[in-house]
Amino acid sequence: MSLTPMKQILDEARKKGYGVGAYNVNNMEQIQAIMAAAKATQSPVIIQASRGALKYSNFTYLKHLMLAAVEENPEIPVAMHLDHGNSLDSVKQAIDLGFSSVMIDGSLMEDGKTPSDYDYNVKVTRSVVEYSHKFGVTVEGEIGRLGGIEDGVGSGSIHLTDPEQAGQFVKDTGLDALAIAIGTSHGAYKFKGASNLAFDVLKKVRELIDIPLVLHGASSVPKELIDRVNKYGGKMPGATGVPMADLQKSITMGVSKINVDTDGRLAVTAAIREVFATKPEKFDPRDYLGPARDSLTQIIIGKMKDFGTAGHAGDYKSMSLEDMKKYYK
Ligand code: G3H
Ligand code: 13P
Ligand code: ZN
Repeated sequence: MSLTPMKQILDEARKKGYGVGAYNVNNMEQIQAIMAAAKATQSPVIIQASRGALKYSNFTYLKHLMLAAVEENPEIPVAMHLDHGNSLDSVKQAIDLGFSSVMIDGSLMEDGKTPSDYDYNVKVTRSVVEYSHKFGVTVEGEIGRLGGIEDGVGSGSIHLTDPEQAGQFVKDTGLDALAIAIGTSHGAYKFKGASNLAFDVLKKVRELIDIPLVLHGASSVPKELIDRVNKYGGKMPGATGVPMADLQKSITMGVSKINVDTDGRLAVTAAIREVFATKPEKFDPRDYLGPARDSLTQIIIGKMKDFGTAGHAGDYKSMSLEDMKKYYK
């Protein structure tokens, strides 16, 4: 099976009312863990790489690792997605590498930090839609701003999505999926107290927009992972995430794509710290990268079940990018 267009994965999810996790990757073990989880639960999956991840892996390494995932798992629909593209150039680069889906984050300027205005966002997103659809590639855009700067993506100030503006944005750009800001943020420190998502905003957006919605900053930062990180020498006091119940509620209210990076980082770090602390004689990378991979697999299996993705891999036959080209024409 070849790559599946992300639009198809999300449209199918919407039809049946489940969510699909989009998991960030930087290396082989992360990709293998995600695919092992998708295989174990028979889930469609989105694997996504940030610009930083592509740079870290020297671009072609990550591309071939992702393609290996597709080749090894022909029964699993897999979309290969660029996370937080910052310009038409970064999108062109991803499409040249063979990605089946791209995000253009025009809520921020090209530096990925400075808030942009509506006109800028429309202009850059529309240029990406016009370019990408010629290749059958799905486009995700963003309106409103997340918080969280520690991972290098975000302005640090939250600006909730204006539902009316979101409706206009979809009309002005013709994009396939829309990321909205309802109070989540990137990273492991999302809330000072209890989580507090703006479900009223989500409800209004859903009433005005008929394309799949995306929630960034959707890691749950599970307490057991933080405890394990801290037990073995980590220092992450006060880390918090979005409770699974909130994510499940957002899925019932129309969110189809759920972005997860931080929880994967935590699963890997907890396992590696544990090996280093309990087996200090070990020095073969497989002795800690193997457990890290297993730890990540378990976390993602849990999410695939909780998001309702499990069991849906065989529901449909994947469309090709050629099919999508015809569709967009
Ligand atoms: O949204 C951001 C993701 O967590 C990717 O982070 O740019 O550090 O790879 P990164
Ligand atoms: P988390 O930091 O909550 O995992 O969010 C990741 C994300 O939104 C990637 O685009
Ligand atoms: Zn994000």
